[in-house]
Amino acid sequence: MVIASSANYRHIPVMLMETLENLNIKNNGIYVDGTLGLGGHSEQILKKIDSGLLLGIDRDKDAIGIAEERLLKNKNFKIIHNSYKNLKIILNELKIDAVDGILLDLGLSSFQLENNERGFSHKYKSSLDMRFDISSKDYTAEEIINKNKLKDLTHVFKEFGEEKHAYKIAKLIKELRGEIDVLSITSIIDKVTPYKFRLKTYSRIFQALRIAANNELDHLKNFLSSFIDVLNPGGRIVVISYHSVEDRIVKHKFKDLKQNDMIKLIYKKPLIPSEIEINQNKRARSAKMRVGEKIG
Ligand SMILES: C[S@@+](CC[C@H](N)C(=O)[O-])C[C@H]1O[C@@H](n2cnc3c(N)ncnc32)[C@H](O)[C@@H]1O
Repeated sequence: MVIASSANYRHIPVMLMETLENLNIKNNGIYVDGTLGLGGHSEQILKKIDSGLLLGIDRDKDAIGIAEERLLKNKNFKIIHNSYKNLKIILNELKIDAVDGILLDLGLSSFQLENNERGFSHKYKSSLDMRFDISSKDYTAEEIINKNKLKDLTHVFKEFGEEKHAYKIAKLIKELRGEIDVLSITSIIDKVTPYKFRLKTYSRIFQALRIAANNELDHLKNFLSSFIDVLNPGGRIVVISYHSVEDRIVKHKFKDLKQNDMIKLIYKKPLIPSEIEINQNKRARSAKMRVGEKIG
């Protein structure tokens, strides 16, 4: 069983130095960490704002509990259980017109991945939930499998996981009877995938189910089409993504905003972590950071 306490968990923040540098933090500014997680990035942002404010948002109440334990003593910090896609509404409720910088560090944290009851990892024999917000009415990954027809499940694996054998895997999964858990999925992948490709196939299929269960791409797209309204001129948006499906969405939206003279891109190509960071933290290896600045 997993005990949610800050003493048990650490999540090494990815591309931390690059994040702090690119957010251009002013000590009296207002910043948003839209994917608070355990608060690894937030902890360091807070060190740079004396009279400013940091809002930390996350959909996962367990992660929030840990971040709270670690960071809430800080008077410049406010934690909100919500999706970053609702940023405009959240700010409106707080009577904040605009902020000076926003960070999104997408995907899931090692805290979630290492939880042996929530189904995020192929490593643990557990039920297949995968919702970031277990208090929500969102479908679990198991329900996604049961409610989708073969054609739609194939689409999930193809579009969200870029899985070549989407149809074959979806068909075998749809033929399963009874409860579908992590082991049911890994056993099917083992049947159709040569040993040396299995880990990558697990990653693609689990990624696809997680994206579907959390409607992740819609949350990201909604956010990207509205954040500009609540960013001050000169304010920065920093997005770290971990797979090409997400990065492509960010890249295209930033390009759009640039063509409409709404942001300037700080880098033509995404920043990637240094080799030193990748050697110290394997999770960083697929990270890509894109940075925009609102033109005022
Ligand atoms: C990679 S982790 C963030 C880790 C964090 N930067 C740190 O250093 O501790 C991603 C976090 O985003 C959260 N998340 C995913 N989608 C979200 C959304 N739409 N709104 C808010 N939080 C979200 C997940 O629950 C997870 O805790």
